[in-house]
Amino acid sequence: MFEDCFSERIKNTPSSFVREILKVIQNPEIISFAGGLPNPISFPQEEFKASMTRIADKYKDKLYQYSTTLGLDSLRNFIAERYKKIHKMDIDIGNIIITTGSQQALDLLGKVFVNEGDNVLVEKPSYLGLLQTFCLYRANFIPTKLNNDGLDIDELNYNLEKYKPKLAYLIPNFQNPTGLTYTKENREKVFNSVKDKNIFIIQDDPYGELRFTEEERIPYIGINQSEKNIYLGSFSKIIAPGMRLGYIIANKEIIRMLETAKQASDLHSNIFAQYLTSDYLENNDLDKHIVKIKNLYKMQAQTMVDSMKEYFPSNVKYTIPKGGMFSWAEIPEGKSVLKLFDKAIAKNVAFVPGHPFYVNPNPDTVNTLRLNYTNADSKTIKTGIKRLSEAMAEI
Ligand SMILES: Cc1ncc(COP(=O)(O)O)c(C=O)c1O
Repeated sequence: MFEDCFSERIKNTPSSFVREILKVIQNPEIISFAGGLPNPISFPQEEFKASMTRIADKYKDKLYQYSTTLGLDSLRNFIAERYKKIHKMDIDIGNIIITTGSQQALDLLGKVFVNEGDNVLVEKPSYLGLLQTFCLYRANFIPTKLNNDGLDIDELNYNLEKYKPKLAYLIPNFQNPTGLTYTKENREKVFNSVKDKNIFIIQDDPYGELRFTEEERIPYIGINQSEKNIYLGSFSKIIAPGMRLGYIIANKEIIRMLETAKQASDLHSNIFAQYLTSDYLENNDLDKHIVKIKNLYKMQAQTMVDSMKEYFPSNVKYTIPKGGMFSWAEIPEGKSVLKLFDKAIAKNVAFVPGHPFYVNPNPDTVNTLRLNYTNADSKTIKTGIKRLSEAMAEI
């Protein structure tokens, strides 16, 4: 009825496949490996209850009032100190803006940087939430192959030379959807390739803290070496996604532009959630909490890998997660993952087919799928993988 009234921008933007799947799989009989949902048993509910009482007494009416666009100073300060300590990042509070989840960070970056037709280099495959957001700003995506060790350097160099992208959007740690992490060597090569180019590098890192192995943290690409580096962080996967709190760390000139964009978007992120999270962080040990989550997810990931080993046909490949929330599987070429999806739903198990993570995909030829292991207990994971294997045998 209103077809002619909607903007070209929205008409050309696909709705999020994952969000659509989440609607379909409300049925409690379905075992879902589809969403990227943290395990609810990891939410610090008791600690939040204590924080709620404390902030109600301490901050009173401030909890319910409008607040500043950049975000609560105590929270920004916590982030600045943490990044200085952990990442040796050379920043202060003026380099930080709080956002309504990292998803809003992506939207604000789109608003601030992307003119229609601008070239944006993305991993292939990439996070579908970024593809959707930047599609609204009518970016021209330049997909660049992701290998086991990180970005394909030859393809990166070719794309940098040919398309001169204005931005690159990268997820260097436990990538969504593949679970891959760039090696130290790959990060150095990526930085060497981009350092003399006129390109901003967005490093989106919601999963970096969720490393299962004892290996050392690998530094970000070009850390402290470029004013064109933009870092995104989120409390969704290490505290609770319902708080909708993330942040951007960037050069102060960029932060000023983001502040203007955010004023126009939502004035500021939910101030109650900011006070609550800030109080939680002041009164609890975040690192200890993260260790609990990592132990839980490590066990769940292991259960999924063991089950895939036991049940999947031998011609199905899959990644072995070393952190984060996902494994990425590949069925033999020529087999349809959409057909597999239908068979799987009929057996009450769900996953995300690979195609929404690609730019201009042909869903009929995509043979990859994303499996999330964080939102089901071990018994459920095992049952779900067994059902999925039965569906694989039918296609
Ligand atoms: C790579 C990546 N970026 C951003 C987000 C958005 O996270 P949030 O808005 O909850 O911080 C997600 C969520 O799954 C993600 O995987």
